[in-house]
Amino acid sequence: MAATRFMTLPRHILEGEKQHPEATGELSAILLQLGLAAKIISLEVNKAGLVDILGFTGENNKSGDQVKKLDIYAHEMLIKAMDHGGHFCVMASEEEEDIIHLPPNKKIGKYVLLFDPLDGSSNIDANISIGTIFSIYKRVSEGTGPGTREDCLQPGYKQEVAGYVVYGSSTILVYTTGHGVHGFTLDPAFGEFLLSHENIQIPKTGRIYSLNEGNYFSWPQGLKNYIKHLQANQFDGKPYQARYVGSMVADIHRTLLYGGIFIYPGDKRNRKGKLRLMYECNPMSFIVEAAGGRATDGKKRILEVQPESLHERTPIYIGSEEDVLLVEKFLREADESE
Ligand code: AHG
Ligand code: MN
Ligand code: MN
Repeated sequence: MAATRFMTLPRHILEGEKQHPEATGELSAILLQLGLAAKIISLEVNKAGLVDILGFTGENNKSGDQVKKLDIYAHEMLIKAMDHGGHFCVMASEEEEDIIHLPPNKKIGKYVLLFDPLDGSSNIDANISIGTIFSIYKRVSEGTGPGTREDCLQPGYKQEVAGYVVYGSSTILVYTTGHGVHGFTLDPAFGEFLLSHENIQIPKTGRIYSLNEGNYFSWPQGLKNYIKHLQANQFDGKPYQARYVGSMVADIHRTLLYGGIFIYPGDKRNRKGKLRLMYECNPMSFIVEAAGGRATDGKKRILEVQPESLHERTPIYIGSEEDVLLVEKFLREADESE
């Protein structure tokens, strides 16, 4: 899609603010700052092959994943970019075990920032698309002091803003405040994000299914039945297509634009699956629902799950509404016949 009306991210945000007079302009300032962080991370990602920023740090993060240098770079960059604007009372990151407090001498704000600084990091060394995912809530704890764990453990429907950046053939930032989903492509010539995907609406159904078929033998029976159903049928007179990048941001971005379904199920080995509720599933579900799609754990809306811990995982079935409803039917029928 060509850039429309040469609309930059700052101008789009300011125009959005005019439609919401109650807006304090603070969310706009936060989004602009996130856009800046995205540009800086994008620069680093795009030259990662040239400098010694590839490879493993030798540590594992809280989720047990091997940590890559770019994970830590993106994590530190986001904190540095976001910790001095006076907007946040607390942050939490996939790469940090506990909540992240603002430096002592910084102004405390009323928002909460949760983020996956680098998503898809197993793909970095192969130059496959990776991304950053972010999620913003309003504080719920009393007072104006440092935020708390409670502020970071809110159900996904309470998000104020959710978004992601995908560092691929181009760098694209997609965000929603719950009213419309908009995508901006970074024009490296002058370092501006230009509106390239206005008001994204996910197709009601799609031809693509996306999940790691290497886990087939651990899948719930209903999921096996669903995938076999797709493979035995056609979509618009053509076979279904299997597409799996292994970076959630890339797989969700494609699903948002082309339709279809992305699945990371719970299975016999990991009942809750692999993906993190707070840093990956809640923001992506908020975005996909705002684009007219559906996101559940196979039964319940992801956005209604009451989080218990910062790094908890959840199964996720997300994408075109009709496709998610159909896999839920297969899961339910298999459960009922057991
Ligand atoms: P992260 O790099 O932030 O740990 O996320 C990786 C996630 C997600 O991006 C992707 O969908 C999933 O891991 C892929 O997992 P598998 O390799 O098990 O399919
Ligand atoms: Mn991730
Ligand atoms: Mn990550």
